[in-house]
Amino acid sequence: MPSFTLLVNGRRRRVDAAADTPLLWVLRDNLDLTGTKYGCGAGLCGACTVHLDGAATRSCALPVSAVGTKKITTIEGLGTQNGALHAVQKAWIAEDVPQCGYCQSGQLMAAAAFVRRHDDHCWCRIVARRARSGSPAANVRD
Ligand code: FES
Repeated sequence: MPSFTLLVNGRRRRVDAAADTPLLWVLRDNLDLTGTKYGCGAGLCGACTVHLDGAATRSCALPVSAVGTKKITTIEGLGTQNGALHAVQKAWIAEDVPQCGYCQSGQLMAAAAFVRRHDDHCWCRIVARRARSGSPAANVRD
């Protein structure tokens, strides 16, 4: 079985896995990072979203062999190393977004990548309000 060295949440981690194993299962089963969730397994729902070099990526659809040297960030590594929450996580709490909670780690990772891409933390509250409302057009005007 091949071996891979992954950079996950700032730490180098060595894993043994078949080359076509989805990153999702390597994170969950090999590295015990269970905050990343399985939903559809087909790259559609976003529950498995992690960051690869800062970009939102569906880990269920990415073979571990395709990761290479890219930096992986999971929900466990989204905040700072001293335990402070990411701005999107703070907005999530302030806006009382969680509903059932199952897919919210994927939502948070997608929102954090969006905010990073747009380089504006004012987006955090807007993104959180959209997530809470379930409507992409709602609550953006204030
Ligand atoms: S589990 Fe649904 S997109 Fe990956």
